[in-house]
Amino acid sequence: MTAKTDNHDPTAKLELRRYFLRKYHADKPPDVLDCCQGGGLLWRELRKEFDVASYWGLDLKPKKGRLKLDSVRVLAQIGWPQNIVDVDTYGSPWKHWEAMLPNVTRPVTVFLTIGYGGPNRIRLGRYELLALGISLPRIHQMSGAITHKLAELAITYCVARCCDDIILVEAVEAVSDGNARYIGVRLEPRNGSGPVCQTEPQPKHSIDVGGQPHV
Ligand SMILES: C[S@@+](CC[C@H](N)C(=O)[O-])C[C@H]1O[C@@H](n2cnc3c(N)ncnc32)[C@H](O)[C@@H]1O
Repeated sequence: MTAKTDNHDPTAKLELRRYFLRKYHADKPPDVLDCCQGGGLLWRELRKEFDVASYWGLDLKPKKGRLKLDSVRVLAQIGWPQNIVDVDTYGSPWKHWEAMLPNVTRPVTVFLTIGYGGPNRIRLGRYELLALGISLPRIHQMSGAITHKLAELAITYCVARCCDDIILVEAVEAVSDGNARYIGVRLEPRNGSGPVCQTEPQPKHSIDVGGQPHV
């Protein structure tokens, strides 16, 4: 059994966020919606290095000075004003992803953490099955090894579901040690013409975190 840790590999998570902050938010300090604030380590670090116009941290867990809120419900509303959405969950970020996509009305950077929780505990959720085109009864007939492979594949398919209405400008995965995957994507709403996906939905390149040991 693997214990839940808030930040299994903060080096990789931080490098991923730095990459997008430098590339897409250097001109104007971003407005950040931290959907899974936890201990707040990531954005506490990043705010020392980068100017941030506004920051709103949410969590299901109560903490003094923080609104105890399901951030899926916030993303499901029309009109949230942030241009960085950070979904650093323990497990699956797809409820957040599904809720936010219809409400992407401006360019936005999104960070997704996909946790596996150990090799024997991999489960495919409803959104992953939908993205893969697998009906529920069949999944129970599949071996653990196949489920594992499908879970890896599902990330690409889930990310690509944005392409109906949104341009997937860039998708990057940070190198990590396999317990969780860390993806950053840049999205732009589509204005009626132009390509639906500018890059292949598969994360095309990885960020090298400098060969440092992952914490
Ligand atoms: C991996 S920790 C986040 C660590 C955090 N990013 C940091 O910098 O320290 C995951 C957190 O997400 C929260 N969480 C998971 N699902 C959530 C949801 N739907 N709404 C709000 N918080 C959620 C959990 O309560 C937990 O505190």
